Amino acid sequence: MTIPFIEYANSHRLQEIDSTNNYCKTSKVKNGEWVTSEYQSNGRGRGSNKWDSLGKGNIFFSAKVQIELDKIPSLSLVSLFIGSATLRTIRNFAVLPEEYSLKWPNDVFRMNKKIAGILLEANTKNEIVELIIGIGINLVSTRDRENEIYGILYETEFDNTQKEKILHNLVENLNISMQKIFFGNIKEELTWIESNSYLKDKMIQARANQILTNGKFAGYTEDGFLLLSTESGIVTIIDTDPDFKIN
Ligand code: BTN
Repeated sequence: MTIPFIEYANSHRLQEIDSTNNYCKTSKVKNGEWVTSEYQSNGRGRGSNKWDSLGKGNIFFSAKVQIELDKIPSLSLVSLFIGSATLRTIRNFAVLPEEYSLKWPNDVFRMNKKIAGILLEANTKNEIVELIIGIGINLVSTRDRENEIYGILYETEFDNTQKEKILHNLVENLNISMQKIFFGNIKEELTWIESNSYLKDKMIQARANQILTNGKFAGYTEDGFLLLSTESGIVTIIDTDPDFKIN
């Protein structure tokens, strides 16, 4: 069994690119390598969303790993654990770590503002997934903050050695998360994710088996799906589209 592993030393450092995920998909980037760029001109988000760069100096990161599908519970669990690796990294560099939480499936929030987003793109051949892990983290912003919907990690300028430390820690935490999946420490990580969940104590509207349901956050399955406690019992939510809403 090969465990997906990102090699910190094998990075592609770019000044500007449309999207680090696009670059990472090319044959220039090999399995286990990663890409970062100072600026991203056409960053992509989940669905048809765009990822705003908020100016230069933020983290635009993509890594390529291969995963044997029959060795993991689901890709949704991988997605959730990549979210927890990102949350752990951000907390390690935050002034007030408790301000940060994970919003299922894998957004990181600073209080009520999104600070990091993750775009996973999978290409499956013969039960092996080539996974592009795209992560954007807002460190700073040159824009007027008043009506900004995105959160940032630092209110003032910071130096590039700090950014490098964050990237190093991100690679480390992603590798630890993968190992947890492959060596069976899933329950322990899910407990940590649950206690640091943005959805905790919130009422949620979502679609379960085509039916629109309202319920309270009740944790996650071992496949990384969301559980809601509703009038008709516990229901499992597989994805956020199209009607997911926090009330
Ligand atoms: C989302 O929350 O909708 C996902 C945002 C993902 C953004 C990152 S930035 C690095 C990588 N390159 C992209 O084009 N997107 C991801």
